[in-house]
Amino acid sequence: MVIKPKVRGFVCITAHPEGCAAHVREQIDYVKSKGSLANGPKKVLVIGASTGYGLASRIAAAYGSGAATIGVFFERPAEDDKLGTAGWYNTAAFTKQAKADGLYARNFNGDAFSDQLKADVIAAVKADLGQVDLIVYSLASPRRTHPKTGVVYKSCLKPVGQSYTNKTVDTDKGVVSDITIEPANEAEIAETQAVMGGEDWEMWIDALEAAGCIAPGATSVAYSYIGPEVTWPIYKNGTIGLAKNDLERAAKKINAQLKTLGYGRAFISVNKALVTQASSAIPVVPLYISILYKIMKAKGTHEGCIEQIDRLYRTQMYGGTGLEFDDAGRVRIDDWEMAADVQAAVKEVWPQVNTGNLAELTDMAGYRSEFLKLFGFGLDGIDYEADTNPNVPLGG
Ligand code: NAI
Repeated sequence: MVIKPKVRGFVCITAHPEGCAAHVREQIDYVKSKGSLANGPKKVLVIGASTGYGLASRIAAAYGSGAATIGVFFERPAEDDKLGTAGWYNTAAFTKQAKADGLYARNFNGDAFSDQLKADVIAAVKADLGQVDLIVYSLASPRRTHPKTGVVYKSCLKPVGQSYTNKTVDTDKGVVSDITIEPANEAEIAETQAVMGGEDWEMWIDALEAAGCIAPGATSVAYSYIGPEVTWPIYKNGTIGLAKNDLERAAKKINAQLKTLGYGRAFISVNKALVTQASSAIPVVPLYISILYKIMKAKGTHEGCIEQIDRLYRTQMYGGTGLEFDDAGRVRIDDWEMAADVQAAVKEVWPQVNTGNLAELTDMAGYRSEFLKLFGFGLDGIDYEADTNPNVPLGG
């Protein structure tokens, strides 16, 4: 079949297998171009490995230091007349390439929050790798079924305490308008924390540790975001930010736990705002990202997921200065985004931007093309008019 993008609001409901494969290849090539990562991770578990920061974490480990990787994710294969998801096609492409390059790659498609999936992954770690030396926790999910109680929690993206009004952009139509979001109630705050907070990360570490699957000296990292004040009511101080505070609490607890195993460590890396399936769903943030991209591209400091994670590995986790922490004990790979001159430029543009000058003042075109790339569209060398087989086996 011929596969074209079908954008519905902030999602694209189609994905192109060969385009996704080309996107994965681009990321592999980027890591290879940086040379091998001495002392990099060797046996890696990535939870949330099929798209965005998790996929980049997997690729950077496999192609930076030849790591064996186990990827956990929740994706859909092609079925009947429905296409597979981008994360499915990304993983299929990564796995095929990794195996061709002699790298171990195994996949678990299912609910990372469940006890069963944890048990299945642990059995594979034991059988195939013995132990893991890096555990990346990179889930972004709208809901979680609690494994002990069966309660289904839903996360929401709302301010806390008071309503929030600001500019937002309909990225599909290119229309800038004001949006007012009513504050979350207590139940919504608690539910978002249950989904995006640290409890599940702790459960993973507890289960891996109990099974003896964590190598001495192992690292675990989870990702967070802070961003500029203009987005704080909806991000840092909103429901998602409170959940991230809980992730930070978990990081401290897991860090102490891993230290007792012998120099193990856990921490939060605060990453740059980037177009991913998760971030495109957040009100206000896509407009900020499109302004940010324009400014950072002009300065030559723009990065995507793979550049961010590759830099995190090379300059802090496995080389360079070693881990550098901010006052709250977090690693800041969002440093180039948060640079004073970049943020001053964003602040200047923000009040001026409207529907009429969107193309001129922001990199909305770059935002859109990055968004489409997430689903395998707009990649060089792909014939988008050609007949494409959507039934791609996952492999691994
Ligand atoms: P994403 O949407 O690209 O990836 C989410 C991953 O989680 C996918 O692999 C998906 O399959 C997996 N997943 C979701 N629910 C699952 C479930 N129940 N079981 C198994 N796997 C499941 O998201 P993105 O943006 O890469 O986010 C990853 C982390 O990075 C999140 O913690 C996010 O807050 C953080 N982050 C994102 C930033 C951004 O601008 N995109 C900035 C800084 C941090």
